[in-house]
Parts: sequence; C-alpha cells; structure tokens
Amino acid sequence: MIPKVRKAVFPAAGLGTRFLPATKAQPKEMLPLVDKPLIQYGVEEALHSGIQNIFIVTGRGKSAIEDHFDVSFELEHTLDAKNKKDLLAVVRGISDMINVAYVRQKEALGLGHAVLRARELVGSEPFAAVLSDDVIDAPIPCLRQLLDIYEFYGASVLALMEVEGDAISAYGVVDAEPVPHNGGNSRLFRIRNMVEKPKASEAPSNLAIIGRYVLTSEIFDALDHIEPGTGGEIQLTDGLKYLLRSRPIYGYKFEGKRYDAGDKLGFLRATVEFALNRYDLGAEFRAYLKELKL
Ligand code: G1P
Repeated sequence: MIPKVRKAVFPAAGLGTRFLPATKAQPKEMLPLVDKPLIQYGVEEALHSGIQNIFIVTGRGKSAIEDHFDVSFELEHTLDAKNKKDLLAVVRGISDMINVAYVRQKEALGLGHAVLRARELVGSEPFAAVLSDDVIDAPIPCLRQLLDIYEFYGASVLALMEVEGDAISAYGVVDAEPVPHNGGNSRLFRIRNMVEKPKASEAPSNLAIIGRYVLTSEIFDALDHIEPGTGGEIQLTDGLKYLLRSRPIYGYKFEGKRYDAGDKLGFLRATVEFALNRYDLGAEFRAYLKELKL
C-alpha cells in the first residue's frame, strides 16, 4: 500500500530581499495578488489537491501569516454587525480552511534547512512541499498532478518546467530520461541527477525544478547528511540528489502556467493576468488596459 499524502510543508522564513522595501516589515508571502496573499494561493492548491494539514515554516517578522490563517474576532464581529455577509464568509473561510501548525526556522539557512525543520510534524509520512513564490494557474492543481504520479509509483516527484537560455541558472536543474506514462511519453521523467543553480553553460538540461514537491520522508535523513551548497545554504536540491543514491525520484512537466511571484516582473504579470480572469474585475480592467496608449 502506498501511504496517502496528508500533509504539506510551506517554507516561509525567507527574507524576501527581492521585494524590498515592501518586505521590510511584512512577509513576502503576504503580498497580495489582486486581493489574496501569495501563500493563500498555495494553501488553496494544497486543499484542492486533497491535503488538509498545513505546516508553515516561519521566522522572525512573519506573524502576519499566523494572523491571516487565524480567527479574527473583531473583524468578524464588525462585519456581522454591519450585515456584510459576503465579506464575513470570505474572512471566516480562511480560518476554517485548514488545520495549520507553525514551526520556526531560527536562521535562514536554506530551503533544505527549512524543510528539515518540519521533520517532527511530518514524521515518517510522505508529504508535499510548496514554495508560495511559485504561483501556478492550472486546470488540475499542480500538486494534484504530482500526487497522481506519486500514487502510481510510490516515489518522490518534483514539478518540472522547460526554461530556455541563461534563465535556467536561477533554478535547480535535472538530468532526466523520459518515462512512458498514461499513453504519453513527454511529461514524466526519471531523474538521473540534479544540480542547484548551475551556470547556463553547465546546465544538464533545460528542465527546471519548480516549487512543488511530493517527498517521501527519507528526504529528512538525506538533508541531515549534506553540507551547505550554493550560496552557503542547505539546499533541498542537494538533499534530493543525495536521496537519489538510494531511491528513485520522478519529475513531472506539469500542465499549467507558472508565475514567479517572488520576482517583480513575474509578480506584475501574475497580477495583470489574475485580475483579467476575475469575474468581478476582468471586464473593467480589460477596458482600462485597452485605453492605455502602449
Ligand atoms: C528554489 C529551489 C530551486 C527551484 C526554485 C523554484 O530556489 O532551490 O531548486 O528551482 O526554488 O522556484 P529559489 O527560487 O528559492 O532561489
């Protein structure tokens, strides 16, 4: 029996330097795309993929995340008194949405280090990891797509995306061979090797790791064994590479569009496209954009 994935880990302790000064006193995970904080998109993706237990790895200055997923008595009371039922439902929905627990990463020592902080909460179960900078708009939630592969093979699965040119050096990059799956052979890969942020000239392929992972719990031992890598940080990619010695790992080129919302231009693109797709804003916003003489 392949154990079910019931838990998702959200590393959220990074300093958000790419978004200063907005992130000086506010977590980057709380930056809103239209009217919803980045991290809520990821949490909703986990929920829509069938995962209800959310563990958020936070650090100093991140209490707004905890408040966001908590009950807000004053706000609910006020909205109730003013009979603002729709807004009340939106606000209540957030705290009712999930079972959430927090664990603290005292120092920002890397993504692998952050994931390792969730070890006690996750235990020996398989789990998902979600990087909320990567916002993914997809017909089937990206995490659900990875879970379908996990449930078939019982092995760790990483989200992959093709990235052309020098931009590849901003990612974990895999060396992988295609595996026929579900009547096709263009989306699933068995990973042979991987490297974190290689020079473009040294990248083993154009297949980048995107911030959705389904991981078996052996990753914790692997992360415990490795030394700091790129940028002096404990890298999740290095932990996965270590795990490859003893376990198969798959990569899946997911269907959907990914936005790098941790980057200013990526954030703007996501904002515009999400606003255009909103039933309550889209038409007016489109008309406004058309008015601009670009
Ligand atoms: C992290 C990972 C990297 C991955 C990327 C996806 O890097 O370390 O392997 O490709 O997320 O967004 P970061 O963007 O946090 O530097």
